[in-house]
Amino acid sequence: MKTINISVLHQMKSSGEKIACLTAYDASFATLLEDAGVDVLLVGDSLGMVFQGQTSTLPVTIDAMVYHTTCVARGVQRALLIADLPFLSYTSPDRALDNAGRLMAAGAGMIKLEGGLRIVETVRRLGQWGIPVCAHLGLLPQSVHKLGGYRVQGRDPDQATEILDHAKALEEAGSELLVLECIPVPLAKRITTELKIPTIGIGAGIYCDGQILVLYDMLGITPGKRPRFSRDFIPGNNSIRESVATFVSEVKAGTFPQLEHSYT
Ligand code: KIV
Repeated sequence: MKTINISVLHQMKSSGEKIACLTAYDASFATLLEDAGVDVLLVGDSLGMVFQGQTSTLPVTIDAMVYHTTCVARGVQRALLIADLPFLSYTSPDRALDNAGRLMAAGAGMIKLEGGLRIVETVRRLGQWGIPVCAHLGLLPQSVHKLGGYRVQGRDPDQATEILDHAKALEEAGSELLVLECIPVPLAKRITTELKIPTIGIGAGIYCDGQILVLYDMLGITPGKRPRFSRDFIPGNNSIRESVATFVSEVKAGTFPQLEHSYT
């Protein structure tokens, strides 16, 4: 199987092959997910909630992200490994460059940051130093307090226009990939059509170029209520590996997500 890099993801967008992505926090799961056909592994700062038991992603440190990225990198050979810059670790381009450098040295092949116009300069700077960037728009979990909770974004027409404009500015600044979290299906469809770079949706509907879920949500082991946009893939499958393979084949076939996992 092909090693996944950014040019492969761009070819997948052009050919219409959907990109299957999951979060990973350790080496054993990284190997299993890759063997089951996952294209992109994200060491997400969601680890603060599902691994560390925090109530948000805000307490996650860059040291924790470096540690988990190192672990995941040991288990990966083919998939693209993306790592998140955690809360307040990219408040300036210089600070972002130092912290992204640590994640790249730990084995990441791409760095993800949350935000729109406020990160445009940082995206440019990382690109100048050879660091590929994945931007993240829509529901930004690191801004949960400012947003007033984990809410769908972009329902209001002005906010939808702002998200689209920010997506274009991020692409123009050199972002190679874009995560869209919890936005209405028509907005995600428009962004996906108007951008050349691939979009990866989570609660953003079927028209994105790829889909990502938090691993523990799709295995049904995250405590509490499962988010509407996620699905427990364990029922109907005989093992974790089979559940992950089902997720991959449903993403590739365009049968996940359904409308019940999306917002209008
Ligand atoms: O931290 C994370 O796991 C993420 C995904 C939900 C996209 O950012």
